[in-house]
Amino acid sequence: MTELKQGFLWGNSTSSMQTEGAVHEGGKGPSVYDLKPATAESADWDVAIDEYHRYPEDIALMKEMGMNCYRFQISWSRVNPTGDGAFNEEGIQFYSDLIDQLLKAGITPMICLYHFDMPLHLAQDYNGFMDDHVVEAFIRYGKEMVHRFADRVPYWITFNEQNLYGVPEAFKISGYTGDNTPRDLYQIQQHVITCHAAIANEIHDHYPAVKIGGMLAYQEVYPNSPLPEDVAHTRKFLEFADANLIRLFTTGQYSTEVLAYIHHQRWDDLLDPAEMAIIARCTSDFLSFSYYSTATLDSTKIPVNTCPNFYGVLGHRPNPYLQTNEWAWQIDPLGFRTVLTTIYNEAHVPVFPIENGIGVREEWDGEHAIEDDYRIAYHRAHIQAMKDAVTIDGVDCLGYLGWGLIDIPSSAGNVDKRYGMVYVNRTNHDLRDLKRVPKKSFYWFKNVIASNGESL
Ligand code: BG6
Repeated sequence: MTELKQGFLWGNSTSSMQTEGAVHEGGKGPSVYDLKPATAESADWDVAIDEYHRYPEDIALMKEMGMNCYRFQISWSRVNPTGDGAFNEEGIQFYSDLIDQLLKAGITPMICLYHFDMPLHLAQDYNGFMDDHVVEAFIRYGKEMVHRFADRVPYWITFNEQNLYGVPEAFKISGYTGDNTPRDLYQIQQHVITCHAAIANEIHDHYPAVKIGGMLAYQEVYPNSPLPEDVAHTRKFLEFADANLIRLFTTGQYSTEVLAYIHHQRWDDLLDPAEMAIIARCTSDFLSFSYYSTATLDSTKIPVNTCPNFYGVLGHRPNPYLQTNEWAWQIDPLGFRTVLTTIYNEAHVPVFPIENGIGVREEWDGEHAIEDDYRIAYHRAHIQAMKDAVTIDGVDCLGYLGWGLIDIPSSAGNVDKRYGMVYVNRTNHDLRDLKRVPKKSFYWFKNVIASNGESL
């Protein structure tokens, strides 16, 4: 008997700037990513893995692997070059064709509307999600995409890792170039959840067969010790960074503890009544999240009166019990089970891990498949942990999407940090031939999918 449900979704997740390239083609406008230059440790974003031209080949690989789900990002500046102007039909047609080819291959498309890649004009002229104008522009863009594609795309998310808008990372990912104050962080967070809720409400009002859910980078954090302050700070951080957003996604209500903090800071004016009315109607059909590693929090490193959203960054300590990859990301499959179970207990909607994987430096010899047993070990342990969450803890899990599963530049543009089960023949500074070469893990994962997770 299989332990995972029939129709379990197996597949991969990507973002547009980490795959498409073609930044000057098809009428695309400039985005904040396009301007980031190559460095000694990273590529520029001009080509990525040339998905814009090679997606039929990559869909054929997904099909060969047996995948039945692919989550991709619509590039806002490809379908609307300035973000707030006329829509670009050529860009919209690109995604329409991609969706058709996925469906033809038996792969369910899942759309992400925003993966940190803001049209440049909105970032430069409006300070990104600080400004009401960008909120309006996003809602207009999101609704248009829903109207164009909801007939063929059953799963939607708005913002990748939306809880990062509630931590200092927000200033980098929201296009904001201002003062980086905690008050501004809360303004960005309020605007982004308003945008999410407006799109969720639109889908729920008009497309009952379509599912939309929240997405967060679940920041599982362990207390550094039994010191009561470590435990108390960890609990508070998890409430502010994760649980608050889960409640907003599923009930449209801020956590009372977070509301109390906003009130004590005298920031109640941020909770605009018109926005709160939109947020209040928000529900989620599932909760999705990315999971790579866990962290440890040491309260003694956190100054008094620090905004709780900053605890994770300031109190971070390596966990001596866990191994890491080369980039110090701690490998923790049991943490994955904990996150699945925690989210399900909290939200009571199906959970959907849509990013999981390990970045490793690899070289292809030009002939043989890369023997990536370390990647097989990573995914095997995490899929087993997910099965434990389902079979022992009673979690309702929709599927499992790995991150990339084809080599793509990292979020910092580093091609050397490879997550793929398919090698892409390029380096940071040499495009070579961009040939796709399945690794050993490709065949292993194919077998996992064919057995619906039974054969690990
Ligand atoms: C997630 C992002 O946080 O982590 C991806 O959604 C990113 O865009 C992935 O690529 C892995 O992180 P990194 O920095 O190793 O690429």
